[in-house]
Amino acid sequence: MRSSLLAALLLGVVGSHAVRLIDFQVAQPPPLPKDAKQCTIQILERTFGFSFGMSEVVAYAPPTDCGTPGSWAGISLNFTVTSNGTQFDRLALFSLDEVEIWRSSTPEPTRGDGIIWTYLKDVTRFIPLFSKPGTFVLQLDNLLEAGLDGQYATTLTATFFASSFIHPPAKKSNSIIPISLLSNTNASLISVPPDFSLNVTFPRNTVEAYAELFASGNGNEEFWYFNTANQFVSQLPAGTTFGQGPFREVRLLVDGRVAGVAFPYATIFTGGIIPSAWRPITSYGALDLPTYFLDLTPFVPILVDGQPHSLSLSVSSAEDDHTINQNWFVTAAIQVVTDSSSRPTTGSITKYDAQPFALTTTTGSAGANGDLNITVDATRSIHIESEIVSGSGKRNKVVWSQQLSYSNLQNYLQNTTIQNVFQSTTGSVLSTHNKIPAVVDKFSYPLNINFTVLNANGTSFSAFFDHSYDRTVLPAPFILGSTIKERQLAGGFFTIAATGNFGNGTSNNTLTYVDLAGNTYDREVNAALNNITFDHEGGSLARGTPRFPFFPKSTASISGAVRFPGLRLHGTKGEV
Ligand SMILES: *[C@@H]1O[C@H](CO)[C@@H](O)[C@H](O)[C@H]1NC(C)=O
Ligand SMILES: *[C@@H]1O[C@H](CO)[C@@H](O)[C@H](O)[C@H]1NC(C)=O
Ligand SMILES: *[C@@H]1O[C@H](CO)[C@@H](O)[C@H](O)[C@H]1NC(C)=O
Ligand SMILES: *[C@@H]1O[C@H](CO)[C@@H](O)[C@H](O)[C@H]1NC(C)=O
Ligand SMILES: *[C@@H]1O[C@H](CO)[C@@H](O)[C@H](O)[C@H]1NC(C)=O
Ligand SMILES: *[C@@H]1O[C@H](CO)[C@@H](O)[C@H](O)[C@H]1NC(C)=O
Ligand SMILES: *[C@@H]1O[C@H](CO)[C@@H](O)[C@H](O)[C@H]1NC(C)=O
Ligand SMILES: *[C@@H]1O[C@H](CO)[C@@H](O)[C@H](O)[C@H]1NC(C)=O
Ligand SMILES: *[C@@H]1O[C@H](CO)[C@@H](O)[C@H](O)[C@H]1NC(C)=O
Ligand SMILES: *[C@@H]1O[C@H](CO)[C@@H](O)[C@H](O)[C@H]1NC(C)=O
Ligand SMILES: *[C@@H]1O[C@H](CO)[C@@H](O)[C@H](O)[C@H]1NC(C)=O
Repeated sequence: MRSSLLAALLLGVVGSHAVRLIDFQVAQPPPLPKDAKQCTIQILERTFGFSFGMSEVVAYAPPTDCGTPGSWAGISLNFTVTSNGTQFDRLALFSLDEVEIWRSSTPEPTRGDGIIWTYLKDVTRFIPLFSKPGTFVLQLDNLLEAGLDGQYATTLTATFFASSFIHPPAKKSNSIIPISLLSNTNASLISVPPDFSLNVTFPRNTVEAYAELFASGNGNEEFWYFNTANQFVSQLPAGTTFGQGPFREVRLLVDGRVAGVAFPYATIFTGGIIPSAWRPITSYGALDLPTYFLDLTPFVPILVDGQPHSLSLSVSSAEDDHTINQNWFVTAAIQVVTDSSSRPTTGSITKYDAQPFALTTTTGSAGANGDLNITVDATRSIHIESEIVSGSGKRNKVVWSQQLSYSNLQNYLQNTTIQNVFQSTTGSVLSTHNKIPAVVDKFSYPLNINFTVLNANGTSFSAFFDHSYDRTVLPAPFILGSTIKERQLAGGFFTIAATGNFGNGTSNNTLTYVDLAGNTYDREVNAALNNITFDHEGGSLARGTPRFPFFPKSTASISGAVRFPGLRLHGTKGEV
């Protein structure tokens, strides 16, 4: 009695008896000034039951009590959600004025008291959108049907940090242009294939432009890193996995020419393969999907002619025809900086060295015993230079380069009861403006998944994940740069049963964060069987250790709705 009362108090759970499991993604708190005046407004409150095609659409108006709109030192969002029952992970997509600003997803609930999570998201770079009245959309397409009864009760607030002498206004672009469906009834996500193009007219005095790409695989592309090259997929039992191979490149094209690309991070959602491994600590990225930053400034000389230009988003594979399965969701937000003079910018692209597609190789070896090992490698090199002259006469020599490499090894062993993936994704991205770095992205996202099927009918399996996110990124000269080193070792066992899925899991996590403003954060947190077994937090952004009291209840049998690679058990819904 005493300990659960104490726990209820410590957990901050409202209500008499509910002891909700606190889910979370390991992440740094937003690097915003704690001592600044803060104004919090509620943006929306909505329970997403059966909500397919029924996004929450609200009128947004900037607060005026933390300084002139737009003068803020920063903005963060607080998305707090409770849920109970059985439900799949769902995408949660936030957009403001047709610009996607945050892609998240939902942890899967538990039955009974259910779960609660809060994610704090730094949206300072979207101040140009938050400075004026607009339309805010939260798209969370949930389904209720036999066996799936979990609803998501959501509250979204925004906190504005007033600027002051100590905390100056955040630097910002002049406008943000979306590459999206331009819908105000949902989050405007583009589904590719097919490739998507939008005609965009830029201000004639544009002097810099930066694109942020949002991209994640969905449906038969959810486990894209497990998809097998077409030349080998027929050697596997039908339904083991999907074709089109495991390599994916997200491309942004200007008038049909490649402007920049991203080799994406593999976000695993909380129903992914072993749902019980992602509870209470979600897979890294599930609540805040990584995005990718490109410098579009080299194309400014072309974009400033006052005419519409075609901007295209595409996701391609290492197959001969570069096609993928259905589907990826993509959008882009383009931060535009204009000159103080209204005279048109001039200039030219002086060097363009970019192939339409990455260079790829696919090799494999099949054993007499049916073993199959397949390797897909890719490299990508882009080098573009431009001379840009602003209306006010400033010259900018821009150099933009990307050097990316990728390798994916799949082992299908012992009659495919063993399915292992070893993927490496690394890159170095650099743009300089008059030799000063503008966009920097050095990254490494190694991923190893060992998936083992434990019984003949394939209903029991284990998987162990070793996944890292090491990234030094400077998104643009006016957006705070940071270095994150994160590693997640997770895994467990799971069984699908008509009477209710069950499984267990452990998750060990380390994260360090440091940014160019001098903020630091580190966290080491482990979980086993729904229980936090170790938690240490440090650095200037820390809010006190331990943040999560040891959870008093534990069960070795954790239910959940599961999805995993291939068709054999695809779409299995979990307990009724
Ligand atoms: C986030 O919002 C929830 C309510 O929606 C609130 O209980 C919680 O204190 C907020 N967290 C922070 C850090 O502001
Ligand atoms: C479970 O979810 C339902 C639907 O959202 C809600 O009415 C109910 O209060 C929740 N129960 C608990 C214990 O949170
Ligand atoms: C969003 O709305 C547009 C119409 O404005 C529609 O074409 C599109 O299919 C919708 N997308 C989703 C994911 O519901
Ligand atoms: C873009 O504009 C060109 C010329 O005006 C037109 O031919 C093309 O169809 C447009 N493309 C899209 C995607 O709207
Ligand atoms: C496949 O890889 C496994 C693990 O490295 C190895 O034991 C096996 O001999 C390989 N088989 C073939 C046919 O390459
Ligand atoms: C291989 O697995 C299939 C089921 O996926 C099974 O029918 C078959 O008997 C297995 N073969 C051997 C040699 O174990
Ligand atoms: C799968 O096989 C196991 C024994 O290996 C059995 O207990 C279970 O009931 C079977 N499940 C289904 C859905 O056939
Ligand atoms: C996966 O298996 C390989 C051996 O094939 C092992 O070296 C590696 O540590 C395993 N990875 C995980 C995450 O357990
Ligand atoms: C996490 O760490 C614990 C103890 O430190 C260990 O028993 C467990 O196997 C680890 N889990 C994974 C998935 O590496
Ligand atoms: C999870 O379940 C498997 C299979 O029942 C068992 O071997 C393993 O010890 C369990 N793991 C933990 C951490 O309890
Ligand atoms: C949860 O973890 C803590 C710390 O390791 C431990 O003391 C406690 O016994 C665990 N609780 C359960 C129910 O496993």
